[in-house]
Amino acid sequence: MPEESRSFQRAGMTVRVFPDAGAASRAAADRIASTIRAASPGHRAILGMATGATPQKVYSHLASLHAAGGLSFRDAVTYNLDEYYPIQPLDPKSYRCYMHRHFFSLVDLPPQQGHVLDGTVPEGFVAAHCAEFERWIEADGGLDLQLLGIGRNGHIGFNEPSELTVAEALALPTRLIELHPLTREDAAREFGGVDKVIPRALTLGVRAILSARSILMLATGAHKAEAVAAALAGQMRASLPASLLQAAGERVTWLVDEAAASGVS
Ligand code: F6R
Repeated sequence: MPEESRSFQRAGMTVRVFPDAGAASRAAADRIASTIRAASPGHRAILGMATGATPQKVYSHLASLHAAGGLSFRDAVTYNLDEYYPIQPLDPKSYRCYMHRHFFSLVDLPPQQGHVLDGTVPEGFVAAHCAEFERWIEADGGLDLQLLGIGRNGHIGFNEPSELTVAEALALPTRLIELHPLTREDAAREFGGVDKVIPRALTLGVRAILSARSILMLATGAHKAEAVAAALAGQMRASLPASLLQAAGERVTWLVDEAAASGVS
């Protein structure tokens, strides 16, 4: 078991603090592995996946478990949180490509069981595609586990800060959104400049994220400390989407390293 420094409760959620990003990522991979192992022939493991810098170590750990013969994804089904829009699946900056690079090509997940929102759907069909994506998840029995990262502005998936009421924010469906300026700034390196970042994306809505039976929020690094501290303190607010995780209470576990936990009082 990874070495945990400490754990405590905040707003009904569990917060586990690890000495470094590697240990926190191994804990996330271990939770995903246990979810897969707990699945039965009648119930495949339905996993919500994230992209970005944070989960890369999670995927490499899962790939190592698979390579060592200890874990098969044959009976798992994955649904990714988000995708740029519009984007071609073979564009190296697409999240479909990211998943291929970091996960799909390294494990035995059957290709038809790895779902990523489609960045090529014509704009007139986007709403129908997003609604269909949610229906696929429901038809599979709902997400057993949703892996999340946190944006520096507190976004989850690409549910960006807004001025909605909490009730409205909790009900947000899967949809096309405009990226927040800070999110574009953070993506600039990947795209070779902030002006080159694709400004819109498809994202799983807050409602679908919060419906997962278990939610793992992985946050590592000092640049996440402010957003982590703010999401764990005070009331839920749409201006800080990660605070909305409080609505899922005991189904939520935060896995953070010491640097990301440094602002939590
Ligand atoms: C990615 C996603 C985003 C990221 C967040 C943190 O699928 O949904 O919410 O988790 O932007 O990104 P990194 O890990 O790159 O700091």
